Amino acid sequence: MTVPDRVAVVTGGAAGIGLSIAQRLAHDGFKVAVIDCAEGTAEAAAADIAAAGGTAKGYRADVANREQIDTAVAAARADLGPIAVVVANAAVAPQQAFLGMTLEQWNSTLEINLTGTFNIVQSCLPDLVEAGWGRVVLISSSSAQRGAPRMAHYAASKGGQMALTKALAVEFAKSGVTVNTVAPSSIDTPSVQKKRSEGTIPSAEDMAKYIPVGRMGTGQDIAGAVSYLVSDDTSYVTGQTLSVNGGSFIG
Ligand SMILES: NC(=O)c1ccc[n+]([C@@H]2O[C@H](COP(=O)([O-])OP(=O)(O)OC[C@H]3O[C@@H](n4cnc5c(N)ncnc54)[C@H](O)[C@@H]3O)[C@@H](O)[C@H]2O)c1
Repeated sequence: MTVPDRVAVVTGGAAGIGLSIAQRLAHDGFKVAVIDCAEGTAEAAAADIAAAGGTAKGYRADVANREQIDTAVAAARADLGPIAVVVANAAVAPQQAFLGMTLEQWNSTLEINLTGTFNIVQSCLPDLVEAGWGRVVLISSSSAQRGAPRMAHYAASKGGQMALTKALAVEFAKSGVTVNTVAPSSIDTPSVQKKRSEGTIPSAEDMAKYIPVGRMGTGQDIAGAVSYLVSDDTSYVTGQTLSVNGGSFIG
């Protein structure tokens, strides 16, 4: 794979799916800027990637805070070079019954998941357009394709990412920039494991019974899809949703 001096930004890259994506892109040869809001974690993830032979730097920023994002992106640009790839992965997935959902809960989920996507993509995109080559991948969710009880705010934010994908794909179609979304389902990450330990979602074995391939997904499953979408092979693939869900029916 040829990725001469290309820089990839991954939000929420310190844990779970984002960490797997950051590790995979570093392995593919990208210089990776890991952005995460949890103190010290982005730097630690970047140090691990560097120890494994990759090139990475970590930056602490909250995707919902535009000033922090612009500062982190400017630092990544200064440290690593112009941004070529943006992976908007950071999100929260709270559970709350709709009738008990407060406006504050609704707004905060939309601010992180959807406005956070707007922030990171708009902050990085001028580099991609100027280079005449770029890849944007938004990590959405099967929740936007088939619904999710007690997660109306989350599902709405993820549906917003899918619509944003379509809009940006056509707006930047002639700029050499592709925009696609990956829609994961049932990926066994630390946040999912936490919910399981709290008893709010079924066991991994019970979930696997409803997944045609017979297992939950891994961060590496999503990272493989992202690796494809950010490659040179995909200049004619834009505005698409790649569902990575073990064959689960989405309709
Ligand atoms: N795990 C699944 O089954 C699943 C299914 C569908 C979609 N997804 C999507 O995949 C992505 C990653 O999910 P995950 O399970 O790895 O999540 P996770 O909670 O395990 O990790 C999310 C990471 O994002 C960071 N983050 C959270 N809010 C942030 C903010 N405001 N600013 C910067 N960083 C922030 C966290 O610190 C953490 O490192 C999310 O977009 C999620 O919606 C996950």
